[in-house]
Amino acid sequence: MTGTSDPVDPATAGGGAGGAVGAAGEVGTGAAARAAPGAGEASKGQRRHLLSVAELGVDGIEEILRVSDAFVEVGQRAIPKVPSLRGRTVVTLFAEQSTRTRLSFETAAKRLSADVLSFSVDTSSVKKGESLRDTVETVAAMGVDAFVVRHPCAGAPAAVARWVDAAVVNAGDGWHEHPTQALLDCYTIREVLAGRAGHRLDDVGVECFAGLRVAIVGDVRHSRVARSLVLALGALGSVVTLVAPGTLLPPSLEGWPVAGVSHDLDAVLREVDVCYLLRLQTERGAGAFLPSVREYSATFGLTARRAALLDDAALVMHPGPMNRGVEIADDVAELPRSLVLRQVSNGVAVRMAVLFMLLGSAGSGAAPALAQPLGSVGA
Ligand code: CP
Repeated sequence: MTGTSDPVDPATAGGGAGGAVGAAGEVGTGAAARAAPGAGEASKGQRRHLLSVAELGVDGIEEILRVSDAFVEVGQRAIPKVPSLRGRTVVTLFAEQSTRTRLSFETAAKRLSADVLSFSVDTSSVKKGESLRDTVETVAAMGVDAFVVRHPCAGAPAAVARWVDAAVVNAGDGWHEHPTQALLDCYTIREVLAGRAGHRLDDVGVECFAGLRVAIVGDVRHSRVARSLVLALGALGSVVTLVAPGTLLPPSLEGWPVAGVSHDLDAVLREVDVCYLLRLQTERGAGAFLPSVREYSATFGLTARRAALLDDAALVMHPGPMNRGVEIADDVAELPRSLVLRQVSNGVAVRMAVLFMLLGSAGSGAAPALAQPLGSVGA
């Protein structure tokens, strides 16, 4: 996560009445101490952002996955809520449609006891001509600790991070990146692999990704999910193959840590551990790059016949929303190997981890609040 100067005193900003919030490093394992740029600097007054997977590095990714483990446990409690961010305010600023990401971030923030402001561009004064900068500065003036930003323009969350002192999380910007989607996807893969091996999650780090063969299939050109996921899996040592018609690949793959590109889905399916399907983004004009959606589906859709080519242990993933009958057949989406809803469930815990690591007070030396149910600290 990236750092900028922060006028908020970290000694008082995070714990609030809860008074038991640990720094991110107190929650994780040894990975925390070696975390991404900015980690460990919070006690020196640094506010961090999550704008790109690229800024995390292997240790940063591992730290987030390990902190997420604790929040998965919180989610299994009768009252899945902790006081960690009591007194903090999180704004979800979405200039593009969303179901999963928005609700998941809002659920995450509420489970951390933060106050949540939900800002929709469509019902705001942006429609009267107010600029994004004036909008963001206006909302920030109300006293905001974090902005979760989705925007159709690549770079918009980074711009917001320059305009305000609050932490900023990129919740998807144009074709650029969707870091928390990649993190929840990695979390889900690790969780399944650990379970199959009979290991406790505590005992499984990111080494499980080394050599993992992953096919990312479909509309790579328009996919911020693909960009973030390729960066994450590439950093973790997975062997990623992009499978798409040439027209739905980016103009250049320079800087993409992929092993190769294929146009033959049947051949690739026989060789992979994970088949990750991308949505055909017709709203971004993907249809114009294809002879027809029907032909695309016939050539690149994961039909039941194609799914039968996968190894018995292979996983099927999709970030959602799914175009059933286009990139994934109805019956394939329902197979036990399909992790689509598990990805969504894990998204809440991963986003709790991200918000906690950005906003949880640093250096208190206290036990992390996530170990304590709401109420045990006088909520
Ligand atoms: N995966 C994803 O970003 O879904 P939403 O657009 O519904 O948030």
